[in-house]
Amino acid sequence: MLATTLTSSRIETRPNWAEVSLSALRHNFRVVQQHVGADVTICAVVKCNAYGHGVEECAPALEQAGAKWFGVTSTDEGVVLRECGVTGRILVLCGLYPGEEEEALRHSLTPAVFRLEQAESIARAAARLALAQRVAIHLKIDTGMARLGIPLTELEAFAEGVKRLPQIELEGVFSHLASSEVLDDEDTARQIERYEAALRTLANHRLHPPLRHLANSGAVAGRPNTWHNFVRPGLLLYGYEYAPSRHDGSPVTNVSALPLKPVLSWKTHILGLRDMPAGQPLGYGGAYVTPAPARIAAVSVGYGDGLSRKISVRNGHDPALCHIHPSVGHGEVLIRGQRSPIVGRVSMDLTLIDVTRIAGAAIGDEVVLIGRSGTEQISAWDMARCSDTVVYETLCNLSKRVPRRHAE
Ligand SMILES: Cc1ncc(COP(=O)(O)O)c(C=O)c1O
Repeated sequence: MLATTLTSSRIETRPNWAEVSLSALRHNFRVVQQHVGADVTICAVVKCNAYGHGVEECAPALEQAGAKWFGVTSTDEGVVLRECGVTGRILVLCGLYPGEEEEALRHSLTPAVFRLEQAESIARAAARLALAQRVAIHLKIDTGMARLGIPLTELEAFAEGVKRLPQIELEGVFSHLASSEVLDDEDTARQIERYEAALRTLANHRLHPPLRHLANSGAVAGRPNTWHNFVRPGLLLYGYEYAPSRHDGSPVTNVSALPLKPVLSWKTHILGLRDMPAGQPLGYGGAYVTPAPARIAAVSVGYGDGLSRKISVRNGHDPALCHIHPSVGHGEVLIRGQRSPIVGRVSMDLTLIDVTRIAGAAIGDEVVLIGRSGTEQISAWDMARCSDTVVYETLCNLSKRVPRRHAE
């Protein structure tokens, strides 16, 4: 049994909660640090409420484990970290919105920049605040993902411009890989080459940013040539890998999986239990009709909690005909250590489960959506596959109304 502490002050009446193991989180941080070696700094990516795990508890736990840097999306996420006592460096990965500069500097956040005007605005804010020290920034370069980042064609102008800003120190230069886990991906090889070329261009302008970073979790796991002296893993810290693969989809066998522990479990209860005759349509649209008499449990979870409606199960769903993934539409939960299928459409607050084969199933039984029950386990990746998405979305979608219970 996990000793749980309830971190939310609100009253919980609905049995639907996530258990977050801070010891597993700290373990994963140490596994990653050991993997990359002590000379490589880890920037623990805790954006989007620590991938749904609860940032106010997770970031301090990571700091305890030795994290010196944290990656967030925006200034407001960085301020939340400061308010919960994080003293380490905080990199704002998507940069600052115009007008936020003073707020970011007052909280000692480190902005990413991808346009010279951003660096100029930060320099003006630093002057207004009469800061004694130069403000460190990290330049984001677009090496091929075509999302955020300065194009290589504008790099020389940036380099000359930033040197004219005495308040600014170009501390870091980084880029993001589009397919880091696909080890034979040619576009990734080109991204890495462009990143190296960008470093050379900056060096030609006598700029040598000490922190160089490219690697997210996929690259941390399988591409040591991208580590430089700084890496930015998110997913690995929460206990999941995007298994390294090849372009044709085949797995890579010479990269060993890291000994990570999933950090989050998601649980609910059986709220109602009824015996249904054969031919009974279940739930919205009657999308599932009982083929034989069945015992059906209503459990307290729905898409309002973040359970994707795509996990709903219809009759006659043939995995062989599923064009997305054979498991899509084959959602399962664990009850009394056994796998039990979701039946019918997931609705906002309730989901139906066929418990005909679960001896003694009763109202109040624990239902595991993600996690272990007896010897069975459903991972967040399993749930993601059944919902036609990736584990990132499954974790981040866990909604606000699911209380997170953090256990040491
Ligand atoms: C810029 C950047 N770096 C690092 C990460 C962490 O990625 P991952 O969770 O795959 O490690 C992200 C996540 O989306 C990101 O946007």
